[in-house]
Amino acid sequence: MLLADFVRAEEASGPVAVITHGTLAHKDMELIEALQESLAEQGVSSLAHTLSLDVSARRGMYDCERRHTHRDEDADGEISAWIDWLKTRGHDRLAVIGHSRGGKQVARVAAKDERLSAVVLIAPATANGAERAYKRSPTLEGIVMQTTDGTDLTYVKTASFLYCGPTEATAESHASYHPEQPTGAETYTPDIDVPVLVIAGSKDTTVPEVPAIFIPMRSDRLRFELVDGAGHMFLDFYAEDAATLISEFFSELTVEVDADDLEMANAELYAQADLEYGEYLGSECASCHNADADEGMPPIAGLEAWYTHLALIQYANGERENSAMSLVARSLDDEQRIAVAAYFAAQIAE
Ligand code: HEC
Repeated sequence: MLLADFVRAEEASGPVAVITHGTLAHKDMELIEALQESLAEQGVSSLAHTLSLDVSARRGMYDCERRHTHRDEDADGEISAWIDWLKTRGHDRLAVIGHSRGGKQVARVAAKDERLSAVVLIAPATANGAERAYKRSPTLEGIVMQTTDGTDLTYVKTASFLYCGPTEATAESHASYHPEQPTGAETYTPDIDVPVLVIAGSKDTTVPEVPAIFIPMRSDRLRFELVDGAGHMFLDFYAEDAATLISEFFSELTVEVDADDLEMANAELYAQADLEYGEYLGSECASCHNADADEGMPPIAGLEAWYTHLALIQYANGERENSAMSLVARSLDDEQRIAVAAYFAAQIAE
C-alpha cells in the first residue's frame, strides 16, 4: 500500500503537482510539509507521496538497519501511478516536483512521460553526487541467504549504503544506488519537452555543484533559481521561498490547449458533469452575463461546453486578458469549470 497527502488549494489554478521526497525520506518531512502548505496558500494543489522502498504503508525515515531490497528505479513506477491516479480524477494538468534524489527520479520520469505540463527540481541529485557515493561504498563481502520460499538471495554487506553506514543490501539494490555509471537530474533534463525549473540553495553542501551544472543549461525551457541562504533541506522558511518560485513558474506557463483535444478528451466529463452544481456556480456568472447585451457582455448560455471550459482556462492563465473574467476563472478549479461549462451548454440561448 502506498501513502500520499493531497492538499487542495482553495483558489487553484495551474497544474496540480506530484511531490517526491529525497533519499530514504518521506512525505511528512519538514520540507515537504512546509512546501505543500505554502503552495496551497499560493493557489497550487499538490500530492506528496511516500516511496514504498518495499515497505507497505511506510511512515517516517527508512530504518538504515533494515536490509535494503529497494532500487532507485522503483520510484519511477510509483510516481507514474500517482500521475495516473490524479488523471483519473479529472486533473488534466499535472506537474512533478522532486527534492534531492526525488529530483533526479522525477526528471527521469518526465523525460518519458508526455502527460506532464512542468517539472521542478529542488536541489536535485547529480551524477557527481552519485559518483561520490559510489567511491564511498566498497562492497565488503557477499552473503547468501535463503528467502522464506527457499530461493537463494545474495546480500552484500557494505561499508556504507547511501548515507546509512555499514548495512546489508541485495546486490541489485546496492548496484542501483551505487552504479558504476552514475546518472543525475542533468542526465535527463535534455529529454524533457516541457518547462523545467531548477531551484538550488546557496548553502547546500550535499549537492553544491547544482548551480555550476544547471546555470550553463539555462534555456527557454530550463529556468534556474538560487535561494540565497538555503541549505540542502530548505529549512526555516526557505521552503516558502521555494513555493513562491514554483507558483510564479506555474502561473507563467501558457497552456497550449487544442480545442479539438479538449472536446474529445472531456466529452465524457461534460456529459457527466453535475448540472445542479453548475447552476449553483453559474448564478455568479449570470449576474454579469445576463445584463443588457447592449453593454457588450457576450452571451454564454448555449455555448458549447468545451468552448466555455477553454475560455475559463485561458482567462485563468492569462492567454485571454480580462480582469473580471480572470478573477472569476481563477477562483474555480477544473472540476468547477467543467460543471459550469456543462450547465451553460444545456441552457438555451435567448
Ligand atoms: C464581473 C462580471 C463577470 C462575471 C461575474 C463573469 N463574467 Fe464572463 N465575461 C465578462 C466580460 C466583461 C467578458 C468579455 C471579456 C473579453 O472581452 O474577453 C466575459 C467573457 C466570458 C466568456 C467568453 C465569451 C466569448 O464569446 O468568447 C465566457 C465563456 C465567460 N465570460 C464565461 C463566464 C462564466 C462561466 C462565468 C461564471 C463562472 C463568468 N463568465 C462570470 C464578465 C463577467
